[in-house]
Amino acid sequence: MKLNLENKVAVVTGAGRGIGRAIAEALAAEGCAVAVCDRDRDVAQEVVESIARAGGKADAFQGDVGQRASVQALAVAVKASLGDADILVNNAGFSMDASLLEMSEEQWDQVIDVCLKGSWLCAQAFVGGMRAKGGGRIINISSRAHLGENNKSNYCAAKAGVLGLTAALSIELGRDNITVNTVAPGLIRTDRVKSIRYFEDIDRRAKQSTPIPRPGMPEDIAMAVLYLASEMGAFVSGETLHVTGGRYSST
Ligand SMILES: NC(=O)c1ccc[n+]([C@@H]2O[C@H](COP(=O)([O-])OP(=O)(O)OC[C@H]3O[C@@H](n4cnc5c(N)ncnc54)[C@H](O)[C@@H]3O)[C@@H](O)[C@H]2O)c1
Repeated sequence: MKLNLENKVAVVTGAGRGIGRAIAEALAAEGCAVAVCDRDRDVAQEVVESIARAGGKADAFQGDVGQRASVQALAVAVKASLGDADILVNNAGFSMDASLLEMSEEQWDQVIDVCLKGSWLCAQAFVGGMRAKGGGRIINISSRAHLGENNKSNYCAAKAGVLGLTAALSIELGRDNITVNTVAPGLIRTDRVKSIRYFEDIDRRAKQSTPIPRPGMPEDIAMAVLYLASEMGAFVSGETLHVTGGRYSST
């Protein structure tokens, strides 16, 4: 069965590195015109060049998904360059860990603003174009951390909130033929994760409790996104696809 992604317009946030980059490259390889969005213009441009070298179509956009004005400007720029979006992948995110009593209000707000509010702002900004085209796909990247993790109250709350946002929007947008789903990755070897001070510790724990005996890679998440974005996922909405190598628990 064909994925039927040729000539679709896909917007991927946080696409300059890691998981977002793998998603952008996979969608481009299937024939999408990809809006590579990142708050860091240089890395977004690098991804666009890599997609072009592979024979794909993409354009780079700089913006902060946590800020309404920036997201609105992003939507205008994407439409002018590539047209209305068919697919939105809300991937931009990061963690800022601290214990409950040591976490500042700023740490809480920054993570919630990008990981949760950013997905809502982008859905608002791109849904008009999907409606005009008669349908679309919104894919939100949550995390296994929605189950809870130590010293991550901001990140866990944001990533659990993404599941609620997905459920609400899947009901609200179904009549527009727009599916809304979540992909919840387990530990994935991106440069960001490998640079965490206590990476060896989290990697060891992941190895102990992951049934599939290999590390999760950005391409594993990209494959799940392709399925949800494609014709094969046309009747799947409001779901969470856990891509964790079978590690579905908070330990
Ligand atoms: N790597 C993992 O183990 C893992 C596990 C579960 C979930 N996730 C989620 O996957 C997503 C990607 O993670 P990653 O490990 O690839 O991270 P990464 O740091 O490698 O890449 C994230 C990209 O997002 C960009 N970005 C950050 N804030 C932004 C903002 N406000 N606006 C626009 N762009 C922004 C960064 O510049 C960066 O290029 C995140 O939402 C993360 O929470 C990652």
